Amino acid sequence: MELISNCTADAISNAAKALKEGHLVAFPTETVYGLGADATNEQAVSRIYSVKGRPTDHPLIVHISSINKLEDWATDIPDYAIKLAKEFWPGPMTLILPRKDIAKDFITGGQDSVGLRVPDQPVALTLLKEFEELGGQGVAAPSANRFGAVSPTTAEAVGEELGEYLDSTDLVLDGGQSLIGIESTIIDCTGVSPRVLRPGAVSRSNLRNREISTSVEGNFNKKIKTSGDFDSHYSPRTKVSLNEIAQKGEGLLALAEFETPIGVIRLGSPKTIEDFAHVLYDVFRMADKLKLNKLNVHIESDHPLTEALLDRIKKASNLKI
Ligand code: TXA
Ligand code: MG
Repeated sequence: MELISNCTADAISNAAKALKEGHLVAFPTETVYGLGADATNEQAVSRIYSVKGRPTDHPLIVHISSINKLEDWATDIPDYAIKLAKEFWPGPMTLILPRKDIAKDFITGGQDSVGLRVPDQPVALTLLKEFEELGGQGVAAPSANRFGAVSPTTAEAVGEELGEYLDSTDLVLDGGQSLIGIESTIIDCTGVSPRVLRPGAVSRSNLRNREISTSVEGNFNKKIKTSGDFDSHYSPRTKVSLNEIAQKGEGLLALAEFETPIGVIRLGSPKTIEDFAHVLYDVFRMADKLKLNKLNVHIESDHPLTEALLDRIKKASNLKI
């Protein structure tokens, strides 16, 4: 793989060409880094699965440059989904919608729906626009980590995760550390009202404030496959605990105001909940590098982003507590 540390207009345009030619391009988004391929090229997409070591029935999100491309991929789009897209795109939100024919089984995992997102990151948006100018329709991109591992929030972390699995012609675009730091909110828009499948930075209170009411469980297709179906998702190797008392020699991530007990190794002191999300996956990686026995994450807050943070921390600690 080639790491592009200076993402000039030329470099991004070359990356768009590489995508069109069937190579893989890892790129920054505001949530986490994605491992991109031409979403209409079956061979390129199959390489995403092999590089990630991901089961092939697990669907991919198609990234598009604007809301104008929505109808290229989706059909029977409910009004509330248009409203969501207008409110939150570009942004950390993925909409699951009934698919058009262009969304093949190798993208949707055989489901009748397709996941779509317009990311809010300048390198990503330029890449998507350039790709579309070359006749591309959309870029399939899961998080750029091995299956079940922690999503990368820096180009360096992409290299650590996937470097040995990528070809010399594949690219990694370095756009700095992802601003948000956890994956997008996934909203199922295949029913009468929206349903949050994965919490993220577009929070339930964001939705309520825009007078978008989410559905209660029940009237929806339960077979839908999404993150969380797998217990080991988002896991570092280090055991992670939530709101337990840290012991000597163990790691700790907590808000700055939380004091470090004697002998505990402080790995992060975010000042805000947004900052907490921004550093979370980096701290997971740090704990692995330090080969800690345990990382204690302490978070008590009713901030709108807390639901998403708790979701990721609980998934990281699953099977290990
Ligand atoms: O923030 C993000 O969403 C990042 C960046 C790169 O955009 N992407 C990401 O992709 O997290 P991935 O593949 O790691 O997680 C996407 C989740 C998967 O768990 C997948 O099952 C779900 O989205 N998904 C994709 N298409 C779907 C569909 N048609 N129906 C249900 N779930 C879907
Ligand atoms: Mg992922």
